[in-house]
Amino acid sequence: MSETTATRDPRRPGTDGVEAGVGLTALLVAAARAIETHRHDSLARDAYAEHFVRAAGACADWPVRIEQVPDGDADPLWGRFARYFGLRTRVLDDFLVRSLGAGARQVVLLGAGLDTRAFRLDLPPDCVVFEVDRPGVLDFKQRVLTRLPAAPKARRTTVPVDLRDDWVTALTAAGFDPAAPSVWLAEGLLFYLPGPAETYLVDTVDRLTTPGSALVFEAKLEKDLLAYRDSPIYTATRERVGIDLLGLFDPGPRPDSAGDLRTRGWSTSTHTPFDFTRRLGRGPLPEPNDALEGNRWVFAHKLRP
Ligand SMILES: C[S@@+](CC[C@H](N)C(=O)[O-])C[C@H]1O[C@@H](n2cnc3c(N)ncnc32)[C@H](O)[C@@H]1O
Repeated sequence: MSETTATRDPRRPGTDGVEAGVGLTALLVAAARAIETHRHDSLARDAYAEHFVRAAGACADWPVRIEQVPDGDADPLWGRFARYFGLRTRVLDDFLVRSLGAGARQVVLLGAGLDTRAFRLDLPPDCVVFEVDRPGVLDFKQRVLTRLPAAPKARRTTVPVDLRDDWVTALTAAGFDPAAPSVWLAEGLLFYLPGPAETYLVDTVDRLTTPGSALVFEAKLEKDLLAYRDSPIYTATRERVGIDLLGLFDPGPRPDSAGDLRTRGWSTSTHTPFDFTRRLGRGPLPEPNDALEGNRWVFAHKLRP
């Protein structure tokens, strides 16, 4: 299948990669997916994830197998938090595959990071996957993939743009067709964006979609941001791998994106990750002082008139 890269946004040079800042969170998720991949009871397998981790200096000493973690599953970062990302990957994989089964042929990965769904899922060959992220992240991803025997299962187009800017022009210039059904994933993204950028994103998804299209996004309840500042997940991520998630999350008020979508004729259903842990039989369960307590996964479908 073919691969293309849409035109760069000249205002943002591609220096903001994966070695620091919010880009490093893409590597955190990749390491989690590598660990998940090698579990005997894995929820999702991503053979590419480990290659991203090994290619970046920032994470030279991060584990890619649970056996490399001294406390194993009891470790708050590489045990519980990594399993959370494994669960999220699996649940959103299932959502994407169901949406394609319902007729969508365009996939938009917003804040795609090191997502390899275009390579690892059994996509219909007439499908096109748009990967939207900042240029530095997509550059790194492409450098690693180019060195591997990696061929996308569908047409894959990277869209290097900052989602705080006018990304619609970049996406449509890359070939996105608003008249055809689409499925959109905003996985681990919205809490990094300012509230107005999230509102713009949701408005835009509505504007660019036909009935029958679908969107899944991850949100955090507002109170969660500071209530769990000393939780093992935030503390371990900050102290051991230098990612201060609370410092990266946008501190401003969040819009009610699920409510906005409903007023625009979408159906939504909101779940905790723990709902899926129970459904799939593995994954994190609630615990005291839990940074995952406020996480919500919102599944939205644009209704037919
Ligand atoms: C936690 S990672 C998640 C990546 C991917 N969705 C996944 O689950 O593997 C967050 C991603 O959002 C991207 N991101 C954050 N803010 C962004 C922005 N303003 N514009 C574009 N991408 C952004 C980061 O570069 C990073 O790749």
